[in-house]
Amino acid sequence: MREKNVLAILGGPHTNGTTAAMLDLAVRKAEQAGYTVLKINLYEKKLSFCTGCRACMDMHVCVQKDDIREIVALLHKCQLVILAAPVYWANVPAPVKNMFDRLLGTAMEETDTFPKPRLRGKKYIILISCNTPAPFSWIFGQSRGAIRNMDEFFKTAGMQSIGKVVCANVKNKKGLTKRAMRKIERCLK
Ligand SMILES: Cc1cc2nc3c(=O)[nH]c(=O)nc-3n(C[C@H](O)[C@H](O)[C@H](O)COP(=O)(O)O)c2cc1C
Repeated sequence: MREKNVLAILGGPHTNGTTAAMLDLAVRKAEQAGYTVLKINLYEKKLSFCTGCRACMDMHVCVQKDDIREIVALLHKCQLVILAAPVYWANVPAPVKNMFDRLLGTAMEETDTFPKPRLRGKKYIILISCNTPAPFSWIFGQSRGAIRNMDEFFKTAGMQSIGKVVCANVKNKKGLTKRAMRKIERCLK
């Protein structure tokens, strides 16, 4: 039987916040759909900053021997990545951006023209929470900024999106919106 592994990444600092609740629901649904879930909390990982040495372009993995090695191994093992993060300054939080930087040569190969993807065939789901209410979160680029950044990484890596869910206006809401819950469930049917 073909392996069905999900790498679920919590890219926010709160294990009891909205972002974590979105990821927990997605994990439950993935398990019900027959996936084996490998879950990590990015804020518990030791990840130095990318130094821009570019050795990863040849080695496919960063030369710095910290927790990035574990993340690379998990990425190769999974068929689906679920990345959950809050919006910080209309973008992803710094640890998420740093993870992308550290995965440069894992995700893509440089050519004279367009980058060549190195993670082709895998799929991804983006889960985002933010304080700005909809539709302003989208119109003013808050959730859009974070999604754009994540898409840039995953698409360049050759991965295919199967869903993007935003839970907006979280400051004024208790728990997940029905709409967000429905969308998460639909991604993993
Ligand atoms: C440093 C920081 C920057 C933030 N920037 C934004 C922002 O640009 N737009 C927005 O809508 N919310 C912003 N927020 C609010 C967070 O998105 C919100 O607190 C988060 O979605 C809550 O998720 P959590 O319960 O998982 O922590 C920011 C919060 C922090 C701490």
